[in-house]
Amino acid sequence: MRTIHSLKELRTILRGYRRQGKTIGLVPTMGNLHEGHISLVRKAVESADIVVTSIFVNPMQFGASEDLATYPRTLAEDQEQLEAAGNTLVFAPSADEIYPEGLAQQTRVVVPEVSDGHCGASRPGHFEGVATVVTMLFNMVQPDLAVFGEKDYQQLAVIRKMVRDLMVPVEILGGPTVREEDGLAKSSRNGYLNEQERAIAPAVYRTLKTTAEKLTNGRTDFRTLETEAEKALSEAGLRPDYFNIVNSLTLKPATESDRDLTLLVAAFLGTTRLIDNLSVSR
Ligand code: PAF
Repeated sequence: MRTIHSLKELRTILRGYRRQGKTIGLVPTMGNLHEGHISLVRKAVESADIVVTSIFVNPMQFGASEDLATYPRTLAEDQEQLEAAGNTLVFAPSADEIYPEGLAQQTRVVVPEVSDGHCGASRPGHFEGVATVVTMLFNMVQPDLAVFGEKDYQQLAVIRKMVRDLMVPVEILGGPTVREEDGLAKSSRNGYLNEQERAIAPAVYRTLKTTAEKLTNGRTDFRTLETEAEKALSEAGLRPDYFNIVNSLTLKPATESDRDLTLLVAAFLGTTRLIDNLSVSR
């Protein structure tokens, strides 16, 4: 497995693979890899001949008061895990390589509607940063397929729409959320939790499951269910950002006629913001 920092080198190597008729899979990440990421890499390895995992902590998707400076950078450990998972190339560019003229001068990609609400409302500009860097990664790697985690449900919806609208010739695959034994979704940000917060954190998934059960038992008072879920999170010691029951495709508030619903949640434990989701069909 090779690690490449320059776009020029990446393009030269990938051109060689393409000439040999190899298919290319991309797994975009911000590093600090855990089993969730590795499951995406394994999925890419099963589906493509060559797998490129990008590791880039993308400044454009962080708000001014967010954790860009402290986001864990663990390249050596990441490389070890990727090698074991059968990854072919690690692309770990610097911010100067990706944004040579700086963020203010950068052309951006805006994905309307699906970027609004939920995390988009709490983190203005976040999905613009994600859509921009992912478009650039697609142009740099020109993969046949790319794999993203379903844990970031709204992000996956934004990327699917962006690919559809801009007619990007790439197949998007989603990988299921990987959880700790107590249900907490694996996330690089779990490492920020202290012992007491870590003990509270499984309440996020518990609340998703309880609400999903109420839905499958026939409740359709969605707004009341959202309020009940936020109350349960608060009582467990979290500070809910939102708990929204939405149409799984549009991400708009669920209505009685919707059959496929997704429960989206974001909640704070101290300064750590956890997100998770669960889909139910009625
Ligand atoms: O999900 C992430 O880690 C990031 O948002 C992504 C897709 C790598 C873009 O920076």
